[in-house]
Amino acid sequence: MYLDLTETSITEAVQRTFDGAEDERFKELFVGLVRHLHDFTREVRLTGDEWFTALDFLRRVGDITSPTRQEFVLLSDILGLSVLVDLINHEDGPSVTDSTLLGPFYVEGRPTAANGSDISGEVEGTPLFVNGRVLDTEGNPVAGARVDTWHSDGNGFYDVQMQEKLHHHLAMRALLIADDEGRFWYRSVAPRYYPVPTDGPCGEILRAANRSPMRPEHLHFWLHADGFEPLITMLVRSDDPYLECDAVFGVKRSLVVDFVHHEAGESAPDGTRMDEPFQTVEWTFVLARKES
Ligand code: BEZ
Ligand code: FE
Repeated sequence: MYLDLTETSITEAVQRTFDGAEDERFKELFVGLVRHLHDFTREVRLTGDEWFTALDFLRRVGDITSPTRQEFVLLSDILGLSVLVDLINHEDGPSVTDSTLLGPFYVEGRPTAANGSDISGEVEGTPLFVNGRVLDTEGNPVAGARVDTWHSDGNGFYDVQMQEKLHHHLAMRALLIADDEGRFWYRSVAPRYYPVPTDGPCGEILRAANRSPMRPEHLHFWLHADGFEPLITMLVRSDDPYLECDAVFGVKRSLVVDFVHHEAGESAPDGTRMDEPFQTVEWTFVLARKES
């Protein structure tokens, strides 16, 4: 049956090998994958050299991947696949806060912090005061919501990228619990735009395409509450120079926020009179109820 395969008949021959699969979804995924891979190969008239280059590229993506360096995730991010999957799977409607990328810098063993704490971990920078609120779609507070937050420092580095300097402590990240009114608040330092890692194979793609590796300044959030869908999202600085050209397509218009600048001498949201300039961010997060 396979002895007279042609450029076109090979596709169906491969697809038929999945006929015996018991899992219908598995079958659908692989039959579709073979169709698109073969169509792509025919469309671009892929050469043998190009195919070996691609396989070697994937090998190198695997070689550099580790628990703290997720090059396959980055590849998915820079090709817009991560956001496409998010867009397909989160059609919660306009009343719910949009989700977006998790990114590679979330850490499971992050410290918990009381509302009002300084979570900067003694990293220096422009003071930032974040005041958030967690509501349901009817506007009721989601008391007890668990709010993970993490962000870079004012040079665009996350704590996990400067562990030696921080003596292996985590910083600029915490788990907070919303109070009875759904409020959470903390102090930290203002983050900064930063490049995605470009010292691996994904960097080669960005350079070959003359693409910017930059992500605009942002704060990450991951919210959990009983009875609600978890929400992975981020708030992005409205006047950031890279707002419109995020290397990983993770910015949504609905998640753009003003980082408000305040002069020395003004009072912070917690009433502290500040003797240096500082910034404030305020945001309301709306969670979708889990369908029962
Ligand atoms: C981040 O925001 O942390 C991030 C997301 C995707 C790729 C690289 C970094
Ligand atoms: Fe980030």
